[in-house]
Amino acid sequence: MARVVYVNDIYVPEEEAKISIFDRGFLFADGVYEVTAVLDRKLVDFEEHISRLERSLTELDMTMTKSKDELLKIHRELVKKNNLSEGAIYLQVTRGSADRDFAFPKDVPQSMILFTQERPLTSVKPGIRVISVPDIRWGRRDIKTIQLLAPSMAKMIAVREGKDDSWMVEDGYVTEGTSNNAYIVTKESKIITRNLSNSILHGITRASVLRLASELGMEIEERPFTIAEAQEATEAFITSATTFVCPVVEIDGVAISTGKSGPVVHRLNEVYIEESRKAAI
Ligand code: PDD
Repeated sequence: MARVVYVNDIYVPEEEAKISIFDRGFLFADGVYEVTAVLDRKLVDFEEHISRLERSLTELDMTMTKSKDELLKIHRELVKKNNLSEGAIYLQVTRGSADRDFAFPKDVPQSMILFTQERPLTSVKPGIRVISVPDIRWGRRDIKTIQLLAPSMAKMIAVREGKDDSWMVEDGYVTEGTSNNAYIVTKESKIITRNLSNSILHGITRASVLRLASELGMEIEERPFTIAEAQEATEAFITSATTFVCPVVEIDGVAISTGKSGPVVHRLNEVYIEESRKAAI
């Protein structure tokens, strides 16, 4: 069955979807996006993703042209039309189409597209192997923009080395994964993850997982950490809407503890899935 996508107010089979060659998303990567997980045909952390979308738009002098309820309706319609039970929905908004000029155009309608992706979210994850690479991205990583070439390149360096992903490093400290937030667990069972700033994306899964960890009585410290510290950790993991809580079992060729997924990561993933199933809308 052909995937049905949403483009500027209409639902069409993906082959029929059209966007102008003058779209600023295409010419300038002038746009933002969100990715919301779908579990049991329902949306996980939806409100939070749409709040972040609004923040990203505002930071780029764009307005939110649809209400949360309208966006919820579109997401649900795509779940239905694509019979999606587990996966993700991507929502991308650009400043729209205009003759090429670095200055933002005035009074141009934004472009909005949404599409679904089927992917396993709840299956057992054996763990990923990461390498470290320099973080060459821009200074506003807190805005979820569609300019993703630097993280794509970072991912490809890992793939070419036969690994799964990269952790990006700036001034000696890990910022985040190419499309996920990064964590380690110390010998004292403390969860360490970088504090929020313009250096990283403020992950929605991060916020939920830290809240659940705290409710489970786990200790959390939000601060930058180095690759050397990570290699000494008892566990390491990533979070995102498309991976949930996923173990990291090797960093720059060094196995983390036994080189297998550990109990903290396992518990957090289990609880996150359980709570998401309950709270999804
Ligand atoms: N990426 N950091 C970066 C750089 C990201 O791109 C993402 C998400 C995250 C995790 O954020 P969240 O928990 O809100 O998904 C952190 C999405 C999944 C993507 O680009 O496909």
